[in-house]
Amino acid sequence: MSVHIEAKPGEIADKILLPGDPLRAKFIAENFLEDAKCYNNVRGMLGYTGTYKGERVSVQGTGMGMPSAGIYAQELIQSYGVKKLVRVGTCGALSKDVHVRDLIIAQGAVTSSSMVEKQFPGFHFAPIADFDLMMQAYKVAQEKGFTTHVGNVLSEDTFYKDDLTSTFNLAEYGVLGVEMEAAILYYLGAKFNVQTLGIMTVSDHMITGEETTSEERQNTFKDMMYVGLEAIIA
Ligand code: ADE
Repeated sequence: MSVHIEAKPGEIADKILLPGDPLRAKFIAENFLEDAKCYNNVRGMLGYTGTYKGERVSVQGTGMGMPSAGIYAQELIQSYGVKKLVRVGTCGALSKDVHVRDLIIAQGAVTSSSMVEKQFPGFHFAPIADFDLMMQAYKVAQEKGFTTHVGNVLSEDTFYKDDLTSTFNLAEYGVLGVEMEAAILYYLGAKFNVQTLGIMTVSDHMITGEETTSEERQNTFKDMMYVGLEAIIA
């Protein structure tokens, strides 16, 4: 057991998908995994282990934002020995070349959060994805013909911001979209020498205001989950 996860030793696979929403963890377990068993219900933050194409895989909700996601990722790594962690979530698009329903594979994560900055006084650490996981995810997405972008995302602490000027400015520097978890995941990947990746499906466009219906979101989520699972077992 760890502070926020009640699984017994050995109940969590060393490969895990990390949706923010615990009900999405349940959805993945029910729709993609065989023989899935729930190992965590502390705070309703559901976690399951099952098999995908014969490989043991887990899926764990993380909640929203870096403080919450960082707690689950660190406990999974430190207390349960997880080695491959793939976030599957949503993001708002920033780039004009990115549209709702597209996939974004986050190669790097710019962040305004002090969570990463505080660890390196005087430096701006560059949180980056694991190259092998990223390559696998890209290959799978290409094979399936999913519209996929690879590049920087912005990991923010604040969903509702009064002033978006500096956020929009980042679009001019190739930042593809905004989300709230990748930077801490990549930081922890570097800290503990494990493989981490964030794959996001675009749910809204920050500049054009384009949005997805819930049905469209469900379908593109499935594409992203497939990409995440295939990459993690490759
Ligand atoms: N996730 C989905 N849309 C988002 C947005 N606009 N900002 C931050 N995270 C998001």
